[in-house]
Amino acid sequence: MTVTESYTVTIEPIGAEVTCREDQTILDACLRSGVWVPHSCTHGTCGTCKAEVVDGDVDHGEASSFALMDFERDEGKTLLCVCKPRGDVVIEADIDADEDLPMHPVDDYRGTVVAVEDVAEGIRRVVVELDRDLAFDAGQYMAWQIPAALAGGKEGVTRTYSMANAPSQPRQVEFNIARTPGGVCSDGWVFAGLDVGDSVELTGPYGRFVLRTSRNEPAVLIAGGTGLAPIAGMIKRALRDLDPGEGPKHLSLYQGARTQERLYDVELFRGLEAQFPDRFTYRPCLSEESAEGFAAGMVTDVLAADHETLAGHVAYVCGPPAMVEAAQRTLMGKRCFPRDTYREEFLDESNRTSGGLRSPLIKR
Ligand SMILES: Cc1cc2nc3c(=O)[nH]c(=O)nc-3n(C[C@H](O)[C@H](O)[C@H](O)COP(=O)(O)OP(=O)(O)OC[C@H]3O[C@@H](n4cnc5c(N)ncnc54)[C@H](O)[C@@H]3O)c2cc1C
Ligand code: FES
Repeated sequence: MTVTESYTVTIEPIGAEVTCREDQTILDACLRSGVWVPHSCTHGTCGTCKAEVVDGDVDHGEASSFALMDFERDEGKTLLCVCKPRGDVVIEADIDADEDLPMHPVDDYRGTVVAVEDVAEGIRRVVVELDRDLAFDAGQYMAWQIPAALAGGKEGVTRTYSMANAPSQPRQVEFNIARTPGGVCSDGWVFAGLDVGDSVELTGPYGRFVLRTSRNEPAVLIAGGTGLAPIAGMIKRALRDLDPGEGPKHLSLYQGARTQERLYDVELFRGLEAQFPDRFTYRPCLSEESAEGFAAGMVTDVLAADHETLAGHVAYVCGPPAMVEAAQRTLMGKRCFPRDTYREEFLDESNRTSGGLRSPLIKR
């Protein structure tokens, strides 16, 4: 029997010490111990978890060559979400003191699928009943463990999906999953027969694309495709669960899709708009067809036409990388700058070779 070694990882500048197995990523060891370090994709693609190895040696794992350039490795940088310790190590991470960042330790959960529903063309809603309550912040996500048989026999393959429900519903979590042709999880599993009663294994919660409850400015929330999932969780929390005075004083949802068949939960948001007329505005946008009750055009164009300026607003943006980038440009043109913009790109395996989109100006 081979013995798995464990090492001590010291996280500077906070001086926290965590125990990390040689086969475990440093990010995983930190988050399971309740030590917060920056991360977003958790798959070596986005670069958010980049840190410096101050002392000791690490195995860089499957870091994308776009997210961690060769010269950065030479300078002692690593990606915490994929690197593993080869001995005791000291890491210098870029830990920001944001009072709104979530601190829920990561853990493994077993779940049973209790609902599977086609909600739009190529989008499925999957509701999972967990074996115990999940503490998370609105906007966070879980890693789905892909059964080895569906992942070419490989253990430990994961895919990431955001919770679309509010944290006040901690036992039954909702996911909105888009079909990616050729995708192991979506095409090969969720759209290929995942059904009520099936078991799933989930790990989390991850991510820092969360509703900032300390920010009271009006918020614009921009969602493309299933980028709606974390934003839906934030809206449900803000409208139904927060105390008066907490969170954005007003929320405007800009939801974009090409056609009406690809837009989902329209009735849910129309209902919320009717229920909270002073606090919530809903703008469903169609870029490739016109229909009564829907704005015509790209979500970014509709947003730009609606607002002379967005100075004094906070923005939350989520969806495919190109859409998030376009939204960021529109927001900046309307004077809503990166310090007031929170964004999450739905990167996938194809971004490993094409490169994630990253700007040092942009918060993740
Ligand atoms: C933080 C976060 C939260 C997310 N939340 C959601 C959500 O709530 N809902 C949602 O629908 N999506 C979400 N996503 C996106 C989702 O995780 C990806 O779309 C998902 O990984 C797709 O999984 P898959 O197994 O179906 O496809 P994958 O197997 O990951 O394949 C995706 C694409 O990459 C190609 N590909 C596979 N391997 C390689 C390779 N080695 N090199 C090049 N190309 C390759 C495939 O052919 C396919 O076109 C989120 C992403 C992130 C980062
Ligand atoms: S979180 Fe590590 S590269 Fe994205």
